[in-house]
Amino acid sequence: MKQLRYLFICTLALAIGAAGCGGGGQETSGEEKTPAAETPAADNSAAASDPKGIGKFKDVPLTHPLDEAMVKKGQEIAEVKCTSCHKLTEEKLVGPGWKGVTDRRTPEWIMNFVTNVDEMLDKDAEAQAMLEICMVRMPNQNLSDDDARAVLEYMRKIDGKN
Ligand code: HEC
Repeated sequence: MKQLRYLFICTLALAIGAAGCGGGGQETSGEEKTPAAETPAADNSAAASDPKGIGKFKDVPLTHPLDEAMVKKGQEIAEVKCTSCHKLTEEKLVGPGWKGVTDRRTPEWIMNFVTNVDEMLDKDAEAQAMLEICMVRMPNQNLSDDDARAVLEYMRKIDGKN
């Protein structure tokens, strides 16, 4: 029944926030918020702009060629838990489209974001910048490490990696 709830959240989010996450940003242009994320990190919280993000994943080895079994598992997980909010193209839905995500982010950042989303949204500058645009907090999807790794492999497939 979880899915139903997500669907509801997404529909709600779509109704409220689709334009905001649609890349235009016109809605907020009047407010001129200065996100803390844009201030150079002088407070030596190194993690704030760590390309690996915040979480336990410090080194995620990638396989070449892709592990097709993981791709398949990742796709199945994504279709249940992710694609209600993420398109596989560059187009935003509730969250950013996944196309190109493995070029924008390191594998560690993606794994940390997916498994540690609350802390990432609270502390990681890149995650906060996305939140500013999308205006919806991605809910924790409770993926195991293996599930998250499988979804990463699926993202690599979408990005044409081999
Ligand atoms: C309820 C909607 C929703 C669901 C479901 C969801 N996400 Fe997200 N996701 C978001 C939003 C919104 C963002 C942008 C950050 C924010 O505002 O919280 C995001 C951002 C991301 C990012 C960063 C994208 C980038 O361009 O850097 C990744 C990776 C991601 N999500 C993976 C997942 C995975 C994997 C799942 C499924 C297990 C998932 N998401 C399910 C809403 C969702």
